Amino acid sequence: MDPPAALAEMRASGHPFAGDMADVIEAVIADRIEADERPHVDAIEARRAELEASEQDITYFDFGAATRDASQTPDEMYAGVERSRTVGHLCRRTSKPYRSAVLLHKLLRKTKPQSCLELGTCLGISASYQAAALELNGGGRLITMEGAEPVAALAQQTVDQLGHDRVTIVVGRFQDTLDGTLETHSPFDYAFVDGHHEGAATVDYCGRIFPKLTDTAVVVMDDIRWSDSMLDSWNEMKQHENVELSVDLADIGILLVSKAPQPARHYVIS
Ligand SMILES: C[S@@+](CC[C@H](N)C(=O)[O-])C[C@H]1O[C@@H](n2cnc3c(N)ncnc32)[C@H](O)[C@@H]1O
Repeated sequence: MDPPAALAEMRASGHPFAGDMADVIEAVIADRIEADERPHVDAIEARRAELEASEQDITYFDFGAATRDASQTPDEMYAGVERSRTVGHLCRRTSKPYRSAVLLHKLLRKTKPQSCLELGTCLGISASYQAAALELNGGGRLITMEGAEPVAALAQQTVDQLGHDRVTIVVGRFQDTLDGTLETHSPFDYAFVDGHHEGAATVDYCGRIFPKLTDTAVVVMDDIRWSDSMLDSWNEMKQHENVELSVDLADIGILLVSKAPQPARHYVIS
């Protein structure tokens, strides 16, 4: 459905979260940055420009899907693939682009979560957009998880440079660190799943996260059309018995997860 028709349908539904998401998406489409958001956006985009211009070499292990065809075994993904890149290349290829990052920021400003989880820190760009929203909201923390140590070190520089003291970076493979992080820091009322990018692993992580959410929570899944297996994972999670509402934005999928869900509603915005 085209955006104006879909947003009108979401507002007409009378469901508060659908109305909130319509507001968020409309603001992103219009590139409406509020006066108090502007300094944060400019500072984060300056850091992105600095990273994108960097010729510094970085060698790290990628523990996610190396290819889109889901041909790796879980053991192969756990072992990881060694990659050597410039920081600039890594930033251009993997950090959420401006519009998607602003969507996360606006989503957090609207829903005001207190306890946020991110899988896939990379260089800290999306973490900074989310942390800036928490800062402006006046409350909340973000735990963000990253497997590649040298990459996490640069993300730490990003959040330090931008003064985001609401962020904690957990370093290690999700396979090793997710359960402990959930045990220590749950319940979460928001999660952004942007790492690994393999369908079965994504379903597995979501399956571990869902029981550790508050009564009502928002889960954002990224790159849902990066591969067939990622699309399968989105289709499976949006049919989950605790999903009350889904919004399919082509690249990003947003889920409202509830312990006592009303009949599910699904919106597609193309
Ligand atoms: C797409 S990037 C995240 C981008 C980031 N959210 C942003 O927009 O700024 C995905 C990150 O997840 C990490 N990752 C992938 N699979 C992982 C795994 N199994 N355990 C831990 N980290 C993993 C990668 O090292 C990579 O930095």
